[in-house]
Amino acid sequence: MDTFVIEGGRRLSGRVRINGSKNAALPLLAASLLTDQPVKLREVPNLADIKNLIRLLGELGCRRTDEPADGSFGDGTVTMHSVDESLSHARYEIVRTMRASICTLGPMLARRGFAQISLPGGCAIGERPVDLHLRGLAALGAQITVNGGDIIAKVPSGGLVGNTIFLGGPFGSTVLGTANVMSAATLAKGVTTIESAACEPEIVDLANMLNKMGAKITGQGSPRLVIEGVSELGGCDHRVIPDRIEAGTYMMAAAVTNGDIVLENCPVDALLSAMHYLDTVGVHVEACNPVAATSPQKSAHRGCEDPMRCCVRVTSDRILHPVEVTTQPHPGFPTDLQAQLMTVLALADGNSVITEKIFPDRFLHVAELSRMGAKLIRHGPTVVISGVRRLVGAPVMASDLRASAGLVLAGLAAEGRTIINRVYHLDRGYDRMEDRLRALGAVIQRVDEKEVAEVAVPG
Ligand code: EPZ
Repeated sequence: MDTFVIEGGRRLSGRVRINGSKNAALPLLAASLLTDQPVKLREVPNLADIKNLIRLLGELGCRRTDEPADGSFGDGTVTMHSVDESLSHARYEIVRTMRASICTLGPMLARRGFAQISLPGGCAIGERPVDLHLRGLAALGAQITVNGGDIIAKVPSGGLVGNTIFLGGPFGSTVLGTANVMSAATLAKGVTTIESAACEPEIVDLANMLNKMGAKITGQGSPRLVIEGVSELGGCDHRVIPDRIEAGTYMMAAAVTNGDIVLENCPVDALLSAMHYLDTVGVHVEACNPVAATSPQKSAHRGCEDPMRCCVRVTSDRILHPVEVTTQPHPGFPTDLQAQLMTVLALADGNSVITEKIFPDRFLHVAELSRMGAKLIRHGPTVVISGVRRLVGAPVMASDLRASAGLVLAGLAAEGRTIINRVYHLDRGYDRMEDRLRALGAVIQRVDEKEVAEVAVPG
């Protein structure tokens, strides 16, 4: 099993290009089930979760038609073509490894009239119910039963029918629930209104692609989506938005190493809340080539030409400042940056507070950071962080994708050696993170866990 060996204490500097967004690409790939025409996606990130979903779609009769002959992932262009619509069972064996497989439910149901998908289990960040997904699809007329761990969904002979749906839950909106219901509504008869829809940039990207395919969606980015059903959708050619969570992670890598990093292809417009809090902490994000703020939008985006594909320079104060943050649905502070922020605040000069409102148990990184000397006290969904002057390298265990990223940041900042076990968690959402950090000056290696002892300590 792969392990990272990190020698901390190096300042990071240089340039890194942000990849396409994992959390945008997954529902975009699933949307290829909505048509019998080819769907071409560009800038799809080379990640384990993406390759797993492409494999699952293949089992559902939707095949990648441009896979390179050498079996590599290619340059990020992925063309999917749904050629066999008789296969509609997403098996437990794949779904259990990636609960995001649930995003195939709505598209499969809408076009094929039937879908059987394993109930995704929970995961390291908590219970992951799908009741809102099912509520929304049932409101469109789907007949849904759960049997033997599988969701079995059928469309009555008349097809799905548009409806007005409140899709909010106890933790606010649901991202993939919105993706499922919005996708299904594109082929329903009549108009669907989704109230308390997710406003995440990934949902906006999906709505924009569905509209390219012939859908009629308005309101994307707001809590109210309106979808006017159409009879069928065509293919399209779509470029995936950059990954705001990857970008935020590298911004925080600059913070914890007092670095100076240029991020290319950075979705500044999707990171306004994160940048607000990071600015308070003492992390500064400036456009590389600012243009005159000829409109309110440009000034809000620090003068970037394209607010979703900026070149920005990230620097930080030597002394980081404490802050109080609560995770919220977009446009609030994203839960997917919570673990990374905790590492930053562990090194701030003072006491900070993080409250996790989306996944209240998303704190597996707390115990591991404490092993490295962080002073953290958890009370339910809240953690009080008393900043320390330094973290000390130690062997730690990765648990979920973003907790793993927080541990990597801690290793970059810590004095001495940090061993991060089970980095396969990280590979689900970060492409060759060790190579990209090394290019920025980090001393980091990926080795098999059995070879850790042989890794020489640099002079
Ligand atoms: C998406 O998951 C992301 N994954 C997650 O990123 C992200 O943390 C999450 O949204 C929140 O932003 C992908 O996009 C692939 P939700 P999703 O439905 O859609 C509750 C990462 O690290 N809920 O928005 O599954 C749920 O328990 C991953 O990249 C219900 O109660 O999350 C949670 O408390 C981790 N019933 C809250 O809503 C439901 O039917 C938000 O969940 C659905 C969700």
